[in-house]
Amino acid sequence: MHSMPEPADRPRALSGAQPTADSYHLGNYFGAFKQWVALQDEFETFYFIPDLHAITVEYDPAQLRERTYIAAAQLLASGVDPERSALFVQSHVPEHAQLAWVLGGIAGFGEAARMTQFKDKSAKSGSDSASVGLFTYPILMAADILIYQADKVPVGEDQRQHVELTRNLAQRFNHRFGETFTVPEPHIVKETAKIYDLQDPGAKMSGSAVSHSGVVNLTDDPKKAAKKIRSAVTDSGSEVRFDPVEKPGISNLLLIHSALTDRPIADIEAEFAGQQYGHFKVALGELVADFVDTFGTRTRELLDDKGELDRVLAAGAARAREVAAQTLATVYDRSGFVPGAIR
Ligand code: TRP
Repeated sequence: MHSMPEPADRPRALSGAQPTADSYHLGNYFGAFKQWVALQDEFETFYFIPDLHAITVEYDPAQLRERTYIAAAQLLASGVDPERSALFVQSHVPEHAQLAWVLGGIAGFGEAARMTQFKDKSAKSGSDSASVGLFTYPILMAADILIYQADKVPVGEDQRQHVELTRNLAQRFNHRFGETFTVPEPHIVKETAKIYDLQDPGAKMSGSAVSHSGVVNLTDDPKKAAKKIRSAVTDSGSEVRFDPVEKPGISNLLLIHSALTDRPIADIEAEFAGQQYGHFKVALGELVADFVDTFGTRTRELLDDKGELDRVLAAGAARAREVAAQTLATVYDRSGFVPGAIR
């Protein structure tokens, strides 16, 4: 491996995507990974797979291990470049959990209890069976961000509240113990990159959807992916026109087309003017099939060489730890721990 380019004075961007499915989907790719890849040009980037977050709900260890490799392979297939980004697995960098504990000491119980994602997730499992880990999940996420002194955190709208909490914790720590953390800004993905479920265009495309017929996975069989597009729910009328209120189904398909081809929506509307939904869906189905064909092939190649994946992830973790260890040392010192207590 070549050595990492000098960090220079570029600001830092950091994000993570949970390995909670057997594949990421088109929504993850267009809503997140494509932005992550673009940020590599301007930022010093840290991208990781939050396996510690994944164990806050019931899970299967063998499946988690496999899904973590899949996640790494798919991030690489998406264009995350290990020469430019630190790509790593969260559990490989113990400083995340160490900082989370310290932050737990300044986070309010009530403040954590107001997190809407916790409220939603714990309501699903019944709040008595929700884990303590699920409750403190946002504190670990704050540690993920603050340990790297990240300036920007690209996330979906659903994570805005967690980044807000992160900012509050950073400011609180800085105020009580002296300037220590960069206060990060959320970088919320533009509405135009948000992809919805093909069968339920009112809901965002999600790996935890009840039915998979509305979700195109990045490693779907190409024929199956095309079929999902052709069977997407469309709206009454027949005009291929972008109108998220009146035509959420067709608008979602136009968004997918535009995201895949990098063409403006108006251009695509013009191409299909006077044609039926069916024509448009067949054409889009073929584009999507080509995309998942290429993506799936690349992912499988990467997964075929786990030794190489392990090496890439180890190098990413080593790079990440250089930064993380420095921050933790400062935090431990400011916290009043006796020197020598680290690791
Ligand atoms: N909670 C995020 C999600 O579910 C994943 C995540 C964990 C994350 N730690 C992070 C995202 C730090 C950004 C920064 O999408």
